Order: sequence, then structure tokens, then C-alpha cells
Amino acid sequence: MRIKSIILALVATLICCAELSAQNSQITPVPAIVRGGMCDDGVCTPAVPFDYSQPFKLSFEGVDAVDVQRLEAAAVAAGLDVQRVKRPAKKGYIHFVVKPDMIHDDEGYAMVTTEEGVIVTANTAAGAFYALQTMRQLVESGDWQTGIIGDYPRFEYRGVLIDISRHFRTVDFLKRQIDMMARLKMNRLHLHLTDAAGWRLEIESYPRLVSYAAWRTPHDWKGWSNSGCRYVDQGSEGASGGYLTKVEARELVAYAADRYITIIPEIEMPGHSEEVLEAYPELKCSHKPERQADLCIGKETTFEMMQAILDEVLEIFPSEYIHIGGDEAGKSSWKECEDCKRRMQEEDLKDVDELQSYMIHRIEEYLNSKGRQIIGWDEILEGGLAPNATVMSWRGEEGGHIAAEAGHKVVMSPHGYCYIDAPQDAPYSQRESIGGYLPLEKVYSYEPVPETMPREVGEYILGVQANLWAEFIVEDSHYEYMLWPRAIAVAEIGWSQPQNRDYADFRERAIMIVDRMIEEGYTPFDLKNEIGNRPESKEDIDHLARGKKVTYLEPSRYYAPKYAAAYDATLTDGKRGTWTYADERWQGFLGRGGVDVVIDMEEVTTIRSISADFMQICGPGVFMPCLVEIAISTDGENYTKIADIEHEVIIDELPSFKSFGWQGEVEARYIRYKAHRSKYTGFLFVDEIVVK
Ligand code: ACM
Ligand code: ZN
Repeated sequence: MRIKSIILALVATLICCAELSAQNSQITPVPAIVRGGMCDDGVCTPAVPFDYSQPFKLSFEGVDAVDVQRLEAAAVAAGLDVQRVKRPAKKGYIHFVVKPDMIHDDEGYAMVTTEEGVIVTANTAAGAFYALQTMRQLVESGDWQTGIIGDYPRFEYRGVLIDISRHFRTVDFLKRQIDMMARLKMNRLHLHLTDAAGWRLEIESYPRLVSYAAWRTPHDWKGWSNSGCRYVDQGSEGASGGYLTKVEARELVAYAADRYITIIPEIEMPGHSEEVLEAYPELKCSHKPERQADLCIGKETTFEMMQAILDEVLEIFPSEYIHIGGDEAGKSSWKECEDCKRRMQEEDLKDVDELQSYMIHRIEEYLNSKGRQIIGWDEILEGGLAPNATVMSWRGEEGGHIAAEAGHKVVMSPHGYCYIDAPQDAPYSQRESIGGYLPLEKVYSYEPVPETMPREVGEYILGVQANLWAEFIVEDSHYEYMLWPRAIAVAEIGWSQPQNRDYADFRERAIMIVDRMIEEGYTPFDLKNEIGNRPESKEDIDHLARGKKVTYLEPSRYYAPKYAAAYDATLTDGKRGTWTYADERWQGFLGRGGVDVVIDMEEVTTIRSISADFMQICGPGVFMPCLVEIAISTDGENYTKIADIEHEVIIDELPSFKSFGWQGEVEARYIRYKAHRSKYTGFLFVDEIVVK
């Protein structure tokens, strides 16, 4: 076989065959370059179908024994009939050449398919593995043609967070997700192993973490959360939960490594640590029985424990990064705690943010001394970022951008795009969830490096991660449903070059993947049946009050600043809300008074209907009004009530939308629309007062 001449032909083909082939639409994430056909010695031949069902001779150059096994297994998983041989065959071959600096990226590959066989060149075995994932998709699509594919990832970090604290998942379940991630060229699995809802990793030096803090009753997080968040001893009646033994965790690490995926363990500190403090109450700030979430940073025993735990974690997980959490510490117990106060005085820490930062610095130093790096949620910026820390930006993008500007590496997982625990379709068609609305298209639209970011800052953005928190996700099948296909979008954001990304094309490919997953027994969201966004929100609505002035009467003047939407213009701007109140179209009213507004129609007008929609999502405290009053006036002083609409607010699980309105015929210039809140404390959300 003429390996050298094929590589030369590859270069020639890249230069002269400009057409993208139809293969482009079969492969996900979409590759960097796909060229049909081949040019050799100035002679170009067009693409022809490649017989991938033939028996192949599989050969390797520059690949060590472990990687040979991994790659051979991947070739079999790709559906190829392969037999390993020592030397490249003359025909019917798949030959891998793995050497440093073959191509410009360590995870990239170049793949040349001629009628005689396939040659893959890559710098590392990971690149060769990704070539095999491409082959797998070509086999699955039934359309593999001669030509070349030159491919490499845009970002080095392409991750998924799986939360096994809120509901425990087995090794088998995790392996299934790893399989799928590998097929999509993802390379980091962030395991959220510890949180209030349960500790999920065997730690021999602190056995109560798994004999007690990993078990609870009842089984489901919501029931547990509503009934006092109690832990129970392993094996006691009704105990539900579980944990990964060290043997299981090592097995999982090896399984992922065979697929070129690194597992990053997350050990939360100092917040989100209720389960640790219930198992070892001596680490609470006070010894009082009440639940506390934050480890005491004043006590040396906290550091002794965390370091001992980390020692055991490091033995299991070889990842460069250890995720140390760092998010959402309440920090209130530290203000009252004698030990914490002493620590702050001794270390000259001016506030509790600096106290948290003290802990993160110390843990970083400890892990750095063991050859590892820390990564933490963006709250680790508060009080001063540890010198070598990498930041995972979740509260938005700002934390990540600040960290990147300061020369820290960053993984972007902003909740508005990457928190795939929000429903992915019309909320009425979905199970109860944390709320919001995050369809595939919105996830796909995420751009981790904004155009305005200077290139040298953008280089600190390592990549992107989808986070799937599991508070409301009890069954494994539901977890898969929430994960896929949205994690496919994150895979493509992480891998593909931005100029090659196109949502309509991606959606077609995602439907193909989802259909195949369903055939294989996975339970993804069936994308082809997507209902989509709230129909009312898709086009602006024209009506008599559009653009008219709205006066907010006391005390409803004070709509919540976070949900101000388009401020005083919101209720007559013609823009209807989507399925989520966080879309800057719904206006939120909290506190006394409900909604009480007057619209000035500018002149006496014939009015035949007045209506406004409200939404209810009880979880985050959004309720329907219990009464809407509508009144009209011609002079703005004397009002005549035309409607009194009563509504019984009933607590339910799913989001709902309801219109409160009046129909008839009146002449008026002013309309007063007043919605009263119910006995339930929370928000009223309204998007538009439509007048016809
Ligand atoms: C987080 O969602 N608290 C990281
Ligand atoms: Zn303390």
C-alpha cells in the first residue's frame, strides 16, 4: 500500500476539491472538512460508494498495546468486520498511523477512504478513536463514500455533568451515557458525587458518609425534601439511595478511559455539604442540631477530613482536575462561629467571602502538591481566586469572562443555555421539573467565545459542558430523556467549527441520532415530535393598546427588578411571553398589591375585548391571581367596573397558562386592569394586556 502517496493525495485533495460532499450531513458533530473523491498526481476522481461491509484487515503504526485494544473494540462497535494484522494489507485495509505532529491538533484525525481501504492519521490514539466514531456514523447512515475527512475539535473540553447525588444511578447506567458521549466525541464526564441529597462515593476513612449520608427515605428527592431531609442508616427499613464502591468507581474510570473520556469527580465544599455535617456533626460551625450546609472553615478538623477524603479520591480518579464545588455557600453560620471568627482574625480575612477563598486556596495548594488542579463553580471568584484554579461558569457568562480575562482557564456552562434540567418542550407536555424552558435550539445557539472577546482572552475558554441536575429526575429513563438530545448540541458546540454549524441541518442529524438511540433502547426525548415554543410568543401581536402608555399604580409600581422585562413598556409592547418567565417578556410582580395598571388609549375608543395571560409554576412560587378586576373610564377619574373574574388557585405540579379577560362593547379612553394575588406567597407573571 502507498501510505505516503495517499497522504500526499490527501493534501492535494484538500487543496483542489472544494465541494463539500453529502457526507457532511451524516456526521455529528459536523466535521471540519469533508471532501468527496480523491486527487492523485493531478488526476481527480469523484466520490464513489465505499464497501464498508467487506472484511477489513486492521493495522496500526505507532499505537501501544492498550490503545490497539481500545481502537479494535471501537472498530467492532462501529459495525466493521475487522481482523487485526501486523502489516498494512494491500487491499481491504483500515490502517492507523499515530505519531506526534501528524496534524495540527492532538485529538484530530485525517481519514482517507479509497476503494482499496481507509487510512487514518492522528497525533494520538484519541484522534484515531474519533476517526472510528466517524466511521461508525458512516456505517449507521449507510452512506460511506470515498474521499477525505479532516477533523479536529474546536475545544479541548467537551463535557457533561451527571448528578448522582439527588438520585443515585448505577454503574451500568453511567456506562450507557459514556457510550453515547464517546460516539459524539465528548471527552469529560463531570460526576456530581456529593450534595445534600446523598454522598455517593465510598470513603474508608469516613465510613458514615456512605453508611448513613448515602441513604434516605423516601426515595424521591421531592418527597425527601418536603419531609425534613432526613438520612437513615444503610439497610434500615425503607432506606433508599446508594453509592459507588471504590471497585465500581475504578471500573467506571477504566470504562471511560477506554473511550478517551476523563471522569472528573466533584467533591463539594464548603457549601452543599448538609449530608457531611449530618454524618459528622462535629464539623458544623455550632454543635446545634439544626441543619447546616456549610463546613466550618475555622476548625482544622475540616481540613483534615477534606484532605483525607481527597487522598482517597485521588487514588481512584487519575484526572488532572478535581472539582471542589465552591458554589452557593450560605456563609451565615461562619459569621456567628467562634472558630470561623478566630480564623478570619488570624488570617486577616475581611469577610466571609475571603474566608471561603481561604479554604479554596488551601485545598488548591494541597491538590497542587499532589500534582492535580482544582476546578470550581464561579463563586470561587468571590474573595479572590486561587492562583491556579479553573472556573466553571454557571451563573451566567460573566464569571467565566472575568476569570479568562485574569488568565484563568474556564469551562462555560451558563444556566441559560447549558442547564438541561429545564424542560425541553412545551411544559404542559413534560414531567415536573425545575422550571424554565430550554429547547434544543436554544442550547445549540450557545457560543462560548463571544465575537467581542479578544482572541488572547478566548484562548482561556477550555470548552463547554451540559449540566443535568437531578432533583426532579427520579427514573433512569427520565434522566436519559432530559440528557438526550440536548447533550448532542453541546457535543457539536464543543467540537465543530462555528462556520460549519447550522441549526436546521443539526436538527435533522439529531433526529437521526435520536431515532437510532430509541431503536437501541435509550429513552431520549423524541425530537421529531417537538411541539416547540409557546405559539403566542412566535409573532408580535398587534392590538389597540400596542405602544400605549401604561401607568403602574401603587404599590404594583414595584415590579421585581429581576423580572422587569421591557420595564414600563412590557404590557403593551406586542411581545407575548414564551414558556419561561425568565425570557424578559413576562413581567414579575412580587410583594403586596399584585398588578394594578392603567392604560391610556389616548382617545375614546370602541373596545370589544380586554385580556391578559398569567402563568403558574408552583415550584418556584409563581401563582395565578385569585381575582382580576377590569374597569374603564373616559376621563381617567371616574371608573366603571366591567369585569370581576374570580379564580380558585390550586397547587399543581405542571406549569399552566390562563387568560383573564372580558368581552363586550364599550367606549373608553382609560382601562384599569387589576390582578389580585392569592393567599400563596410568590410572584404574579403577566406578559401583555391585549385590547381589541
Ligand atoms: C450550581 O448550579 N449550583 C452549580
Ligand atoms: Zn465555623
